[in-house]
Amino acid sequence: MTSLDQMQRDLDALGRQGRRRALRPIAGVDFSSNDYLGLARAPALRDAASNALARGVALGSGGSRLLRGNDGEHIALEAEAAAHFGSQAALFVGSGYAANTLLLATLPQRGDLVLYDALIHASTHEGMRLGRAEFRAFAHNDPAAAQDAIAAWRKQGGTGHVWIAVESLYSMDGDRAPLAAFDALAQREGAMLLIDEAHATGVYGAQGRGLADGMDRQAHAIVIRTCGKALGCEGALILCAAPVREFLINRARGFIFSTAPSPLIAAVVRASLMLLSGGQARQDRLHRLIDHAGRAWSAIGIDPSGSAIQPVVLGDAGRAMDMAHALQQRGYDIRGIRPPSVPEGGARLRITLTLNITEQQVTDLAACLKDLL
Ligand SMILES: Cc1ncc(COP(=O)(O)O)c(C=O)c1O
Repeated sequence: MTSLDQMQRDLDALGRQGRRRALRPIAGVDFSSNDYLGLARAPALRDAASNALARGVALGSGGSRLLRGNDGEHIALEAEAAAHFGSQAALFVGSGYAANTLLLATLPQRGDLVLYDALIHASTHEGMRLGRAEFRAFAHNDPAAAQDAIAAWRKQGGTGHVWIAVESLYSMDGDRAPLAAFDALAQREGAMLLIDEAHATGVYGAQGRGLADGMDRQAHAIVIRTCGKALGCEGALILCAAPVREFLINRARGFIFSTAPSPLIAAVVRASLMLLSGGQARQDRLHRLIDHAGRAWSAIGIDPSGSAIQPVVLGDAGRAMDMAHALQQRGYDIRGIRPPSVPEGGARLRITLTLNITEQQVTDLAACLKDLL
């Protein structure tokens, strides 16, 4: 059997399990993007891109940041981000996936322990696999379980540094982490705390500084702020202490051996941060929409998550995909999420709220869901 035959077999098996993925053109009302503030197509960001082009900003960086690729736009963005979020330093990389992967692959050393929330994003897993430290999961959103895991590791002779990896708002459940408790734990244990703010940056906090607002400035915290969600663009900012940035520049293979992100994109991300500084109006509108949706979900027996990510857990993967299909037929862009993206038995619809939709569309969707459920 050739490799291609083997691939075909695997794909067929995925198909039989109802798990085969496929790319489809965009269609239907947007209840699935992470463009929370509706910035991806906003005139303000289009203008920022046109202006950047007009002043000669390059489309491509032409090389690694350590070679010819260190464009003034990257430097300006990092200075703006550090000032905006109050951190000592910032490093811009191509995506949130790259950020988590290179952080976990680079920072924890042999003899260290990485403790991660059981529901942490795949990119963190990728980094831990590439890294040198031991890694162990703790129960979702449970700082006491993390504390116990540290104690058990120390008892077994663990002497290295401890790293704790959490998200501030979980991408498939829309629930928040008890960040203050994790922060206190990290301080008590002398641990480093990695906070992935992918779904909170721009959505929460004064000027969109997220649920970890204020933590970026702490030396033991490293905050990952992706730019492809509420910021409407792409890439990710790592907010950290200056030595962490220096260490990454010197040691992170995913940074060193990769072409720097587009300077044009860096310019647009900077404009997006300036929009966040300019006022809360978009954030306030999004939160009114979340409140409206919460009432609509409650009225049809769905427990509101209280955030822009609303799961409707159906359990069975086939049922979730059938339900998503039925909603798509009615003009809604809602996707079914199956294992391994969520735990076994946790297949669901993932509904997101963005400024690309109206309260009326949420009301209509709730009526449709009620019929189908
Ligand atoms: C929690 C979380 N972290 C990281 C990522 C990856 O970010 P990016 O899409 O910028 O690669 C995502 C989403 O895709 C995410 O949901």
